[in-house]
Amino acid sequence: MARIEFQNLAHAYRPNPATLDDYALQPMSMVWEDGGAYALLGPSGCGKTTLLNIVSGLVKPSEGKVLFDGRDVTALGARERNIAQVFQFPGDLRHHERVRQPRVPAAQPQNTGSRSQEARARSRRHSRHDAGSAA
Ligand SMILES: Nc1ncnc2c1ncn2[C@@H]1O[C@H](COP(=O)(O)OP(=O)(O)OP(=O)(O)O)[C@@H](O)[C@H]1O
Ligand SMILES: [Mg+2]
Repeated sequence: MARIEFQNLAHAYRPNPATLDDYALQPMSMVWEDGGAYALLGPSGCGKTTLLNIVSGLVKPSEGKVLFDGRDVTALGARERNIAQVFQFPGDLRHHERVRQPRVPAAQPQNTGSRSQEARARSRRHSRHDAGSAA
């Protein structure tokens, strides 16, 4: 862990920001103490992911500095910072998608005549269940 400090940090994806609205992350200064637990709360588009990408070194801020334990890491890339980031999207599958994916092939109707009546009934029950949970 480390103490993470933001000094007059701001980021605009567009060049030459003129107003606050031009910033994806509006100017801020803040300290995250070593060992602390912090949550970023704010409406969609307020700059949460941009800030985390700046912390991990994936985005270089257009203004200000990031310090780890007092050391300026603003110019360092992700690899040089020895930090990990877990992204939101791989965890964004909904419950019914995680459950349904492995058994989709078994739920396809197959009129080959080789499957037992019980297997076909089971497929129909699963299909009805999936349709209900996806609503
Ligand atoms: N690579 C990019 N290029 C240009 N604009 C971007 C880029 N990434 C984000 N933005 C814009 O920057 C602003 C902040 O986006 P960001 O993804 O940091 O917000 P967020 O708070 O994480 O939103 P959400 O809660 O939806 O995840 C938004 O207006 C977004 O459209
Ligand atoms: Mg985000």
